[in-house]
Amino acid sequence: MKSVVIYYSYSGNTKKIANILTESLSKTSQVEEIELIALDESRAFLKQCHRAFSKTRAKINPVKFDLSDYDTICLGSPVWAFGPAPAMNAYLDLCIGLEGKQIILFTTYGSGTGNQRCLDYMQDLLSKKKAGTFSRFSIAQLKVKEKDFVIKKIQETTRL
Ligand SMILES: Cc1cc2nc3c(=O)[nH]c(=O)nc-3n(C[C@H](O)[C@H](O)[C@H](O)COP(=O)(O)O)c2cc1C
Repeated sequence: MKSVVIYYSYSGNTKKIANILTESLSKTSQVEEIELIALDESRAFLKQCHRAFSKTRAKINPVKFDLSDYDTICLGSPVWAFGPAPAMNAYLDLCIGLEGKQIILFTTYGSGTGNQRCLDYMQDLLSKKKAGTFSRFSIAQLKVKEKDFVIKKIQETTRL
């Protein structure tokens, strides 16, 4: 079994969840972690919201886009203006080799407004690439530091 955890994190919350997910997956499979970096992201909150809301694709670091080697593909993003961050949007467009794969989508969020919409958007893009099964989980930013809570949530939703 080979898995990959691909994530974008601006302020570290989603990265923490990605790290815990990687640790959980590593008990049963060989795991790689890929961090997406937005090369053109604004530091201004309103600009970030505008870019995310208008579904901008960020310029991202060159990473692996062909995912055909993996059995399980995990993709994580913070919720930005009810959708994924622009770096994740870019990756969702560019990735290939998802046909029939097990996909785990995860998000971190503040208030939770737009969280389901964000996950739906990610799932829709990957469904168009004929991905197989989807499971999804989300962690509120206030809960990110509670590792036991996060592990339980991962286990409940992904049955890892
Ligand atoms: C530009 C921006 C837009 C955001 N929009 C939302 C939102 O629509 N809904 C929500 O619940 N949280 C929103 N948040 C809060 C983030 O989703 C939350 O802080 C997340 O955990 C950040 O993850 P990170 O530390 O991995 O970047 C937003 C944060 C930023 C910076």
